[in-house]
Amino acid sequence: MSSRNILVTHALPYANGPLHIGHLLGYLQCDIWVRARRMAGDQVVFVSADDAHGTPIMLAAEKAGLAPEEFIRGIQASHERDFADFGVVYDNYYTTHSEENRELASLIYTRLRDAGHIEKRLIRQLYDPVKQMFLPDRYIKGTCPNCGTPDQYGDNCENCGATYAPTDLIDPHSVVSGATPELRDSEHYFFKVGDFTTLLRGWLAGKLTNSKPVVHSSVAAKLKEWLDAEGGVRDWDISRDAPYFGFPIPDAPGKFFYVWLDAPVGYLASFRNWCTRTGTDFDAWLAPNSAAEMHHFIGKDIVNFHGLFWPAMLHGAKLRTPTALHVNGYLTVDGAKMSKSRGTFVMARTYLDAGLDADYLRYYFATILGPAPVDVDLDLKAFEERVNSHLVGKWVNIASRTAGFVHRHFGGRLATALPADEAARYADAAHRLAHCAALFDAGEFAAATREIMTVADEANAYVAANAPWNLAKDESKLAQLHTVCTLALNYFRLLSAYLAPIVPATATRALALFNETPARFDAAAQPLLGAAINEFSALAARVDAKKIETMIEASKESLAPSASAGAGAKPSTPNPPLEREGSSKSTRSSGAAVSPQPSALGPALVSIDDFARLDLRIGKVVACEFVDGSDKLLRFELDAGELGKRQIFSGIRAAYAEPSRLVGRNVVFIANLAPRKMRFGVSEGMILSAGTGDADLFLLDADQGARPGAQVK
Ligand code: 2FM
Ligand code: ZN
Repeated sequence: MSSRNILVTHALPYANGPLHIGHLLGYLQCDIWVRARRMAGDQVVFVSADDAHGTPIMLAAEKAGLAPEEFIRGIQASHERDFADFGVVYDNYYTTHSEENRELASLIYTRLRDAGHIEKRLIRQLYDPVKQMFLPDRYIKGTCPNCGTPDQYGDNCENCGATYAPTDLIDPHSVVSGATPELRDSEHYFFKVGDFTTLLRGWLAGKLTNSKPVVHSSVAAKLKEWLDAEGGVRDWDISRDAPYFGFPIPDAPGKFFYVWLDAPVGYLASFRNWCTRTGTDFDAWLAPNSAAEMHHFIGKDIVNFHGLFWPAMLHGAKLRTPTALHVNGYLTVDGAKMSKSRGTFVMARTYLDAGLDADYLRYYFATILGPAPVDVDLDLKAFEERVNSHLVGKWVNIASRTAGFVHRHFGGRLATALPADEAARYADAAHRLAHCAALFDAGEFAAATREIMTVADEANAYVAANAPWNLAKDESKLAQLHTVCTLALNYFRLLSAYLAPIVPATATRALALFNETPARFDAAAQPLLGAAINEFSALAARVDAKKIETMIEASKESLAPSASAGAGAKPSTPNPPLEREGSSKSTRSSGAAVSPQPSALGPALVSIDDFARLDLRIGKVVACEFVDGSDKLLRFELDAGELGKRQIFSGIRAAYAEPSRLVGRNVVFIANLAPRKMRFGVSEGMILSAGTGDADLFLLDADQGARPGAQVK
């Protein structure tokens, strides 16, 4: 088959928090696929970017006291560092907040509009009168209209599972300011995705890809279900009102493109930036009749965007549609959702900081990944055992048991020829492994690793049966020793080539033994004979279980950012959600199953002496007010009896919309906390409250009669 030109992307990480191992599942899968295609001889351009727009990022930047541009720069730098350290290597890593993206998003929108696929409509939406912004669903909380559970998000109830409109909530309040939201009208822009139903059916049926399936059959079934839904695919709301961090819609003052409109366009913007740098013809790649391929790797939660809206947008704008979507499921750890309390919500950096090798996670993921979008588990014991047994025990072992003899007895050179039996063995192994290129292409990584390890087993059995350590003791058997070591090392070289997409750093060190680098699979089709080899040095250490423990412990301590730790990940929704940024589940990253549950196990036990070190006191609130320049804090002035007056800043503003009502009330505070200098003044203690944060915080009270300054014991 002639070489293919392929543009590859993976889901763009939001620029609002660090990467975790759930993200890595999809990213590493994509990188393995890219490397395998290159080793099969294809031309691949692998681009990505940070997904930089939207309300959550705008608010996160504000909270951090940074301009959004500065905020996203810092996050992007951390993403790029994590990607590099996990061996994910791009031709271009960019941002959706780029000029190329502004131009392309505007161009696509304008073409859709001019062809009549955009419609304007008034919609009624909840508005925060204090913050002066329309509120996405996740920024509204209230009591579930179905079961009465308080503190539920604006789109669904975590207790009874009901879905509803935020306007159905009882006693709704804005999570941003605590204010009661009001209903207001606003003109929104809609993309009429339903205009493309026939195109989408044809695309799904492979009519634009020479009958090659564009998605796994289970994903196709889900997409068909949406296409067949009564009333067809609903129009998609692509506009948001100011204030919004995004691109203004060209002909609509005060309106911005919804983040999900310009996010996939960001794939093309990153590619265009690369084309400009390399003098590549962007238009030729993107033309509807382009012979080039375009592959997107995504998590199963964003199939609607990529399988409905995106191909429709592209086609409507007279651009080519995707060749394939590769969809992964969620990651669980030790059989359960990733959980901060169990220490299984592991950041990419925490894994590396624990001293674990990036290639090991890449390998483990490869052994569990197939083409179906099913959830997979990182079983930490299996991870340790598999890496130790497969990579160290089977693969590296072949070279460590034979390379030394080549240096000691044959001047560091491989034999110049192999006897017929050995040559046939090699040809057979090379032939069987050649099939792995197709397995990688089909996303059958687990099958590929099984095939590779079967050959590794044969190689080890061959070494064991011929016992080079015995041959080396007998002068008359040196020729046989040379043959055995030459074939064994060629097995090792062959295996290294096929493992290279999965464990690139280790395979690079392995192939350096032969003065080679991972290049093409077929470079190992013939055995290497007569060549000088380098000294063997240790390639890979066994996984140390202590490092896994360190990683888990460190993950318990480190607070994962709330942006990545939304509600528990559920399988795809029955209808294409039209709102994601606004959904309470929206910033859950693709690829991770996250536990929203607090741990059943509390923190470690403390002694009574530990407790006695805290000076807890009753304070009577004499003043309480909003803090200018902070949408988190309230400033309290407490009467603390014998301790005098105390000023304390407390991050509970979202929970108390009317601070003046707190005056006169008793609170419990830590009196001997070291004073903290803040931007707004010195905070002299900490007021205790119960709950998980934001609006879910409740001040502790003391019954009437408790005197200011009284100790709490
Ligand atoms: O779900 C997410 O994490 C999004 N940031 C993915 C965007 S993919 C693409 F469309 F940009
Ligand atoms: Zn409910």
